[in-house]
Amino acid sequence: MTDDTLIAIKPEIAATARVTAERRAAMVQAAASDPDGFWRQEASRIAWMKTPTKIKNTDFTGDVSIKWFEDGELNASVSCLDRHLEAGRGDQVAILWEGDDPNADSKTTYAELHAQVCRVANALRALGVKKGDRVCIYLPMIVEAAVAMLACARIGAVHSIVFGGFSPDSLASRIQDSECSVLLTADEGRRGGRKVPLKANADEALKTCPSIRHVLVVRNTGTQVAMQEGRDLWWHEAAEAQPATCEPERMNAEDPLFILYTSGSTGKPKGVLHTTGGYMVWASFTHELVFDYRPGEIYWCTADVGWVTGHTYIVYGPLANGATTLMFEGVPNYPDSGRMWQVVDKHQVNIFYTAPTAIRALMREGEGPVKKHSRKSLRVLGSVGEPINPEAWLWYYRVVGDERCPIVDTWWQTETGGILISPLPGAVAQKPGSATLPLPGVFPALVDGDGKVLEGATEGNLVITDSWPGQMRSIYGDHARFAQTYFSTFPGKYFTGDGARRDADGYWWITGRVDDVINVAGHRMGTAEVESALVAHPKVAEAAVVGMPHDIKGQGIYAYVTLVAGEEPTEALRKELVAWVRKEIGPIATPDAIQWAPGLPKTRSGKIMRRILRKIAANETDSLGDTSTLADPAVVTELVENRVS
Ligand code: PRX
Repeated sequence: MTDDTLIAIKPEIAATARVTAERRAAMVQAAASDPDGFWRQEASRIAWMKTPTKIKNTDFTGDVSIKWFEDGELNASVSCLDRHLEAGRGDQVAILWEGDDPNADSKTTYAELHAQVCRVANALRALGVKKGDRVCIYLPMIVEAAVAMLACARIGAVHSIVFGGFSPDSLASRIQDSECSVLLTADEGRRGGRKVPLKANADEALKTCPSIRHVLVVRNTGTQVAMQEGRDLWWHEAAEAQPATCEPERMNAEDPLFILYTSGSTGKPKGVLHTTGGYMVWASFTHELVFDYRPGEIYWCTADVGWVTGHTYIVYGPLANGATTLMFEGVPNYPDSGRMWQVVDKHQVNIFYTAPTAIRALMREGEGPVKKHSRKSLRVLGSVGEPINPEAWLWYYRVVGDERCPIVDTWWQTETGGILISPLPGAVAQKPGSATLPLPGVFPALVDGDGKVLEGATEGNLVITDSWPGQMRSIYGDHARFAQTYFSTFPGKYFTGDGARRDADGYWWITGRVDDVINVAGHRMGTAEVESALVAHPKVAEAAVVGMPHDIKGQGIYAYVTLVAGEEPTEALRKELVAWVRKEIGPIATPDAIQWAPGLPKTRSGKIMRRILRKIAANETDSLGDTSTLADPAVVTELVENRVS
């Protein structure tokens, strides 16, 4: 795809768009020249108990301090619920739930959601949960997951959601890190016709989590589960006993709203901390602008609430904007690969937001399953989580959207709270494969390895030079690590960990991670985590993990494993190691390839040369580069010869 393939703004979208090209230009200008004035006005999109008078107070140097709206007071659940009731929208559907089983669905109105949230909030208070306490949520994609989040917000508890696909060990380490006192889970989850044993996993995890005093269990599939006397309670029993109103806690704008663990290039996942005021403004602002959301529209984001996309664009953003948000329990290819479009037609979805990996998987099935369904209701299509290749972009545009729907390729991260770089449907012409332009108030730049800012059409490390309201505030319990991880590589700038290219039109093209993080099917995975899972196996002496190109998943996991002396590399052991990693971390970390490595390429000082390992995994063995600095260059020849294809 060339840099100048432009998909023009659709006149019919621009005619009624929330933001036109002129309006966007004015917003970009205002946010740059008068950030306080601009964000003071945008803050009014959420409900405040005390309107903030101080707007921006941020410093990317030294200890790093980020504060927005710091004297404001609010409760996130009031913005998402109460004020819609006050505006007479209580009977509007807030959550449209579509089950894994195509015959299962439900509608929850704003009034019903409010009542459910209040009951669970009261139940949590009755269990002794107070403002500032951490509550872990390990739930499938059922309405109770959104209820759980908003119930925590209502009483000022900080939620920490752990994706239902994570293993007991991964769940335990996240609970331990933030010392959660209550866990919210379900008997089982459903996905693609299979059951996920959430309560059994939780019981296993809780053997090493002394901070957990109580577990609330949703009866979802109805299977028999063990209930520990004094610790475990049924969600419905605890909630039914409570009144349907609950006084919301007054929160300062900078009080924490949630923690979400994410992988970095080193060590254990870090607890990304988001606070209340700035995050809510950002969630509402970006949801409205990027999707050109209009009142009354049906909006569907296919993510899981276990990831940040689910936080911001299934729950907080759409509910703050009074939208009807569709929550989908299932997967794109169950019962067949037309499921997405069947759901679109069934619920008359207007805005559809998914990941490139899903698009590529569906593309492989051909146009048939798409064309079987009308999709006439669709107006805007979105993409998130990883770079979308132009071929998949064009398929999405032509086949799914019938060349009628603009595509918003949205670049952002767990750390950024919401979208930073994306087209706006009525304001920015698109280029297949490019996230296009930053939103108003977002200041990206490219720097070289020494931190020198690069101008014009060029490629480099992607940094953001000034703060935006949705930015993460800290790493839970380790502010020094926050400053070190994000602000020390290029002092005074937020480093994203991504590389990017800017073309002659000033459009941004994200090229992928430049650190040791890989992106597998839109899920972020630290290679160090997979390595430590592998070396925890008694037969493994050493392991090095890199990403490799994968047609559907974007990147796959390629592991080089050195066995302890005397162990035989057998097919049975390979299978055992794959199963071991799945058990240690979860199925999303399943290695795609394991290569037995009698030795790893190391420098004389003992550092593994990952550049070479990446090249071998990608089968680019004719461009290995300089291997002369290796302690033993013969190692490379051996690895190339025995590459796993
Ligand atoms: O590498 C970028 C990629 O996903 C990373 C963030 O992952 P996570 O925190 O899990 O959040 C995913 C959902 C926002 C980024 O550093 N990424 C995300 N969106 C895009 C992307 N890469 C290219 N284009 C995107 N639209």
